[in-house]
Amino acid sequence: MQTTSLSQFNIPSPPPKTTILHRKTTSSRRLSPIFAVASTTAPPSRHQVTHSMPPEKIEIFKSLESWVSENILPLRKPVEKCWQPIEFLPDPSQGPDVFVEEVRALRQRVLGLSDEYLVMLVGNMLTEDALPTYQTFINTFDGVRDETASSPCPWAIWTRAWSAEENRHGDLLRTYLYLSGRVDMLMVEKTLQYSIGAGSDVGAENNAYMGFVYIISRASNISNTGNMARLAIKDGDPVLARICGTIAADEKRHENAYTRIIEKLLEVDPNTTMQAIASMMRKRITMPLHLMYDGQDPNLFEHFSAIFQKQDVYTSRHYAEILEFFITRWELEKLEGLTEEAKRAQDFVCQLPRKIRRLEYRAKKLESRQVKFSWIFNKSLSV
Ligand SMILES: [Fe+2]
Repeated sequence: MQTTSLSQFNIPSPPPKTTILHRKTTSSRRLSPIFAVASTTAPPSRHQVTHSMPPEKIEIFKSLESWVSENILPLRKPVEKCWQPIEFLPDPSQGPDVFVEEVRALRQRVLGLSDEYLVMLVGNMLTEDALPTYQTFINTFDGVRDETASSPCPWAIWTRAWSAEENRHGDLLRTYLYLSGRVDMLMVEKTLQYSIGAGSDVGAENNAYMGFVYIISRASNISNTGNMARLAIKDGDPVLARICGTIAADEKRHENAYTRIIEKLLEVDPNTTMQAIASMMRKRITMPLHLMYDGQDPNLFEHFSAIFQKQDVYTSRHYAEILEFFITRWELEKLEGLTEEAKRAQDFVCQLPRKIRRLEYRAKKLESRQVKFSWIFNKSLSV
């Protein structure tokens, strides 16, 4: 899963089955409408438990199993052809002298990275490392879940392979950050434990249509990793740039799989799929780590998201561009023969990028302020 920032946009959202329990904080009112959820130690679930997909829809996913075998499973990369984290890290098997020299070189390279960059990299690493939350999430989807944790169902085979590939991302970034010596690993590790413990609730209603829409919107975070790679080059760490680029390539392949799934669902069941896309957009796509906490800052998620915006690494503009990409790729504007409800969903989704751009244009320039980040030894950054 990709790092940070999909966001929450202030799009008018009718919450028919959802009970949204936003906590208001002074700081959340100060930030732009884009990233705004507070975090706590033991947050309540935001949505009521619902299974909104009727049983006949489960049959659709069953009928697609052979299609998954032929069109999605080939997007897995064989383990023997996959990169592994150690290939980008100092290698202890080369003997102590070489290892120490490689660590020294790494620590030298990261000296040019800004504190803002480090906060974003920690945020990305934590988002990758919260993989148990995402695998749990996918296995809530009716019709595609892994019933045994080793199910031979093609949907489940894909989910496990995806998780196994994704698992390398967090491992690599975490070890790199650890060796850098520039972040407070104790606070980073605490944040991870809090975050996995809190889980995530994005309101997908155990519904595979809505769940896959959520995942694809998350996979779009590739632009974030690409921007992180560019900044790493600028700040003098080409190895870190290569790491970001390599992770982005994995994410692109994964995005391709989920894009194909939505494409297929639009083909076999356009009305339900179109409504699922609109429904998740209306709920404002929530970041998987929206409940993150480090034991200190109850607004950690919004603070680190603000850094992404301020650094222009991931903003509402990027999100609008991603939506436009998918609208074009899935030819949503050209879908015909939809029910009235699905047509309304189509209009909503197709007009959304324009609304987001308009909101961005109108967004008030907020006064910046200093916020301490525990991950970088409580140094203050402007958000
Ligand atoms: Fe990832």
